[in-house]
Amino acid sequence: MNEIIRNTLAGVANGSLDPQDWSEFRALAHRMLDDAIDGIANVRARPVWQPIPDAVRAAMRTDLPREASDLAEVYREFCEHVAPYATGNVHPGFMGWVHGGGTAVGMVAEMLAAGLNANLGGRDHMPIEVERQIVAWMRGLFGFPQGASGIFVTGTSMANLMAVLVARTSALGAPARQYGIGNDGALFTAYASKAAHGCISRAMDIAGFGTDALRKIDVDADHRIDVAALRAQIAVDRDVGFEPFLVTASAGTVDIGAIDDLKAVAELCRAEGIWFHVDGAFGALAILSSEVAPMLEGIELADSIALDFHKWGQVPYDAGFLLVRDGERHRQAFAQPAAYLGREARGLAAGTVWPCDLGPDLSRGFRALKTWFTLKTFGTDRLGAVIARSCALAKYLETRVLAEPRLELLAFVNLNIVCFRYRADDAVNREIVADVQESGIAAPSSTTLDGKFAIRAAIVNHRTAESDIDALVAAVIKFGAQRTGELIEVEAPPLAAQ
Ligand SMILES: Cc1ncc(COP(=O)(O)O)c(C=O)c1O
Repeated sequence: MNEIIRNTLAGVANGSLDPQDWSEFRALAHRMLDDAIDGIANVRARPVWQPIPDAVRAAMRTDLPREASDLAEVYREFCEHVAPYATGNVHPGFMGWVHGGGTAVGMVAEMLAAGLNANLGGRDHMPIEVERQIVAWMRGLFGFPQGASGIFVTGTSMANLMAVLVARTSALGAPARQYGIGNDGALFTAYASKAAHGCISRAMDIAGFGTDALRKIDVDADHRIDVAALRAQIAVDRDVGFEPFLVTASAGTVDIGAIDDLKAVAELCRAEGIWFHVDGAFGALAILSSEVAPMLEGIELADSIALDFHKWGQVPYDAGFLLVRDGERHRQAFAQPAAYLGREARGLAAGTVWPCDLGPDLSRGFRALKTWFTLKTFGTDRLGAVIARSCALAKYLETRVLAEPRLELLAFVNLNIVCFRYRADDAVNREIVADVQESGIAAPSSTTLDGKFAIRAAIVNHRTAESDIDALVAAVIKFGAQRTGELIEVEAPPLAAQ
């Protein structure tokens, strides 16, 4: 044996990375699981979020670890330096952006998926069948035909981008994948409302059309796309030689949760021969609630729908999803022959359409498992009830804001998002948001509506209760009064009692 090889083998007594002592590992792993469960069960005892101390940030900056460390020591670092300073969206007081709360069920499903370490790019194995089952469920839920396809992705930003790419190939034909969008593609135009999420415009950039090719259509007083203005813009564009190819409607705008008139947009797209995509990042799953679902009328007419299970679906991050009515068009946008990915009649390489034919990823984790566990364990009725309750809580917050003279409501409450502010200027309200976040009592985010800075509460977490809404209102008033020098003292409820 060559000396270098002999020395190397001698240096690594056991080449495998498996534990040397399984029972020691098992005991520690059980403790980790217990701690993780306790972390969720006792989440109310912690602040929603807390700023990262400089010392903790500094402790994370170390050299690349060339030497091994004890797992217990690495776990201790995680407990001290990572876990306490996470985003906080597990906490019922988290109301910022659109973050789901996750569940203990999703957490253990994620652990089971990690144990299988399956690669869902393709091949013939049961984890792919789990993903296919969810595609079939979504097909049924949204009234899509049998030939519809679907795929898990990171999130709706990616799903929206992929929808633009599918619509692009569908309109330009498969050769565009070889030659690029060329002169024909340079004339392509897409449409979304001014309230649409910024990732739509970014998708147009990444897909090679440029952001100017996205026409941002005015919204009505309820923040819904002005369908007459959309129709007029399409006509103007056609008149001057542009090629309208895609409309993205919002099923739940990021600022206030407005839902475009999906039926009217669908009819317009059908008449014009334009791809109709729905960005349903959080709103699409409202279809699970019989009370909210009627607002989504027309979603079943979409050519594609993007949504996130990790938002209102309460699946742990990340679990975005794209559903495409015409599975063959979906495949044509991404599939690529490769000798090393050949399909066989039998064996592990059997099967026809693999997920790698439906998106840009070849290596793919088992996002479907935590989603499957969540859907099966809770059932869609219960998940739908959580969605309806979030909307009821948003209405409760609206009532509290309207009843409080120091607060001002900035937009009507359509779904689960409430935009309001303390009756003071933008600068004060910006400070209030940071004050409330740093207090650990609640974590709203912010946006700007009609030029005014807004405190924005998006109620997504299934753990959020009326008392959390009361705590948010009390904290905003308390910090608002402090910032404006008003002589009132409103006690925010103590953390543990919220
Ligand atoms: C309406 C809308 N579209 C798209 C996105 C982007 O989704 P993701 O963060 O999963 O990429 C969001 C995120 O909140 C959203 O609210």
